[in-house]
This record gives sequence, C-alpha cells and structure tokens, in this order.
Amino acid sequence: MTETEIPPAETPLTETARRAGFLPFALPTVEEEDIEEVVGVLRSGWLTSGPEIKAFEQELGAEVTPASALAVSSGTAAMHLALTSLGVTPGRSVITTPLTFCSTAHVIEQSGCRPVFVDVEPGTLNLDPVAVRAALEHGRHDVAAILPVHYGGHPCELDEILGIAAVHGLPVVEDAAHAFGAAFRGTPIGAVPGEDEHRAVCFSLYATKNITSGEGGVLTGARPVVDTARLWSQHGMSRDSWQRYGPRGSWDYEVVVPGFKYNMSDLQAALARTQLRRWRALQERRTAIARRYTELFDGLDEVQVPECRPHVTHAWHLFPVRLRLPQLTIGRAEFIDELRRLGIGTSVHFIPLHQQPYYRDRYGHGSGDLPVASAEFERLISLPIYPRMSAADVEDVAAAVRQVVAAHRRRS
Ligand SMILES: Cc1ncc(COP(=O)(O)O)c(C=O)c1O
Repeated sequence: MTETEIPPAETPLTETARRAGFLPFALPTVEEEDIEEVVGVLRSGWLTSGPEIKAFEQELGAEVTPASALAVSSGTAAMHLALTSLGVTPGRSVITTPLTFCSTAHVIEQSGCRPVFVDVEPGTLNLDPVAVRAALEHGRHDVAAILPVHYGGHPCELDEILGIAAVHGLPVVEDAAHAFGAAFRGTPIGAVPGEDEHRAVCFSLYATKNITSGEGGVLTGARPVVDTARLWSQHGMSRDSWQRYGPRGSWDYEVVVPGFKYNMSDLQAALARTQLRRWRALQERRTAIARRYTELFDGLDEVQVPECRPHVTHAWHLFPVRLRLPQLTIGRAEFIDELRRLGIGTSVHFIPLHQQPYYRDRYGHGSGDLPVASAEFERLISLPIYPRMSAADVEDVAAAVRQVVAAHRRRS
C-alpha cells in the first residue's frame, strides 16, 4: 500500500485496513551469513566461550563503542555484574526509573539493595535529572548508585546525570538495552571517555534488540571495571575455559570471588559478530521507519509521536506513541484490541514497576506516586519498528492507527 492509498482520516472502522496477514510487534533479522557462521561454530568442536567471544569483544570496541567490552549471557547479567563491579554493596539504595523492564530493578534487589524509583521527564520518558537531584538532596535513602535507562533507544540526559553522580560521588550504570547504535552529543552510547572507573554501560542482545545473539548482553567500561566484571562472570575463576582447555591452556586456576555463571557462548558470539557487521544498515532502516511514521502521523492530533532531541542519535529500538485520550472515546487497551483486529501487533513499554505487585507491596507505593510515569503509561502504545518491516508494512500500521482514531474520535 502506498501513501496515497491510506484511507482518509474520516473512514469509519471497517475491514479496509485489515492486512492479509498479522504483522508481529517485533521480529529478528536473521540472514544466511548469520546461519552459516553459527553452523561453523557448531562444526568447530568449541561451543562455549572461546575465540568467537574474544573477536566479538574486540570488533565491538573497534566498530561502535571505544571502551573495553565483556560479552555476557544477557543484558540483565551485564547490569548485575556492573553493580557488583562498581562496588554497590548490600543494604543501600539505587536510584532508577519506574518505566523500564523489571530486570532493571531486579538486579538492584539481587545486589541486596533497594530500588528507589524516581519520576521520568514527560518529553523522552527518561529518568528526570531534576527528580534525581531532588531524591539525592531531600530523600531519606543511602544511595549507592544511579541506574538510568536509555528508554526506547533515546539517550537520557547523560551529561546531567553524570554531573549529579559526580557531585555525590556515585557510580552510574547505564541500562542501554535499547540503545545499541545511539549517541549522546556525538559520543556513542557505550563509550566511556577518560576511562571513568565509576561507570558501566549494559546492552542487551535479546532476540528483538537492534543487534542480537539470540540471548546475550554486553558490558562496556574502563578496563579495570570490565576486568572485574569478567572475573565475576566466570564463577570468580582466574582462568576461563578457553584459558584452561584451549591449545595454550593450563589446568591451574584460582577462585578469588564467589562469582556468577554469566558468560556468553561462542555460538551466540558468532551470531553477534555477523549482526555487528550489519549494524549500520539495520540502524538506518529503523531510522527510516521512524521518519516515515512521523510523516504519516503528521496532523493526526490524537496521536503524539516520540520526541527525538537534536543532540542525540536515536537507536529507534521502540516507537512508543502516546494517545491523547480526551480526544478519543476509547482507552488504550481497546485501541490495542482494535489494532490487533486490523492485523497489527503492538506492545506497551512499560507497566511502571512501582505498580507491579512485588515492588508496590514491598515498598508501599501508592497510586499517586510518580505521577508522570503513571499518567504516561495509561496512554502508551509501542508500534512495530524493525528492519524486516517492508515499506508497505509501515504504511499499513499508520493506516490502521488512522482508521481506529477516525472511528473513535470524540466529537465535541
Ligand atoms: C530496558 C531493558 N532493560 C533490560 C532488559 C533485559 O535484557 P535481557 O533480556 O538481555 O536480560 C530489557 C529487555 O528487554 C529491557 O528492555
């Protein structure tokens, strides 16, 4: 379907925008070269962490994020390791956003600490630096670190967050699960200028992320931070399996900390390497889709498109639109149901964590807490955005959104 074929805004909800097949919310981009490289590892006889990991870590540093890198089993593992490696000890608190995946807060709990949820800014839905400063200056918590998320792939206001952290002598762990390929004021997310040893950046390589290893994650930071994380990621053993069983290996090792098993396998790293080679093209495709959506929703008052600030490069992992609910006769849940009926898969990022039973009950959060995150959640819908979408898919999504709006526009 071309732009000229999009049903006019006043068309009632009919079958006209229903697609022939369902468009999933997200799909990975797996090519023949990905499959060949993974099969090559299967044939090699070495499946766990080995030469593919080493190559991936080096290529990542050279290609995207000029910092030391550690490949691990998930983005969650990377964040747990980051907190541990930056010396966040049990009994303290970590400031984070409520508008994130649950594992961002879980790793704080698993480190024996308390997540202190601080509100987001209404523009980008990232952790609000003003609210962070207020929590540090007026809060009752013994804060050990700040853990912002680059929500949807739009970097948070990093210079402000890092500045506040420096004033208070706190380390920063960036949840960059969505932000592979993003940049803040020209510096790639994942780079750690000045080898800052109070900082770590954590990417996810989960199946639907901007590049994937099926499941996986990466931690970047100054070399001493990455070295400490590496030790914790391999049971606290001084030699990994390649260093013990590889051609120049030695059987001897020491256990120096009670570490975790968070290593990535060579099978995953082989996939990550081929994906990494194509990351720019994948990124361009996401950016083009975001641009096209923005054009297609121009003038559609009921739908607010995501903000992209001029000083950032957006990774466009998500395209979360916000409904202007007073202008519609239906709520967000019904809007999603209507889109599904028209063949469009969507999602919601995220149900705020202070509203989830575990965090709500454990820390006694009420409905009036974190008003920006709570209010924005009610009107959020993430539309499909991934490189495998065709131009027609993008037009179909926009046509379906326009059609649902037209059928449920509030007439004043
Ligand atoms: C914001 C955010 N943080 C962390 C994670 C966890 O990443 P992983 O699934 O690789 O552990 C996700 C995963 O979707 C996420 O969206």
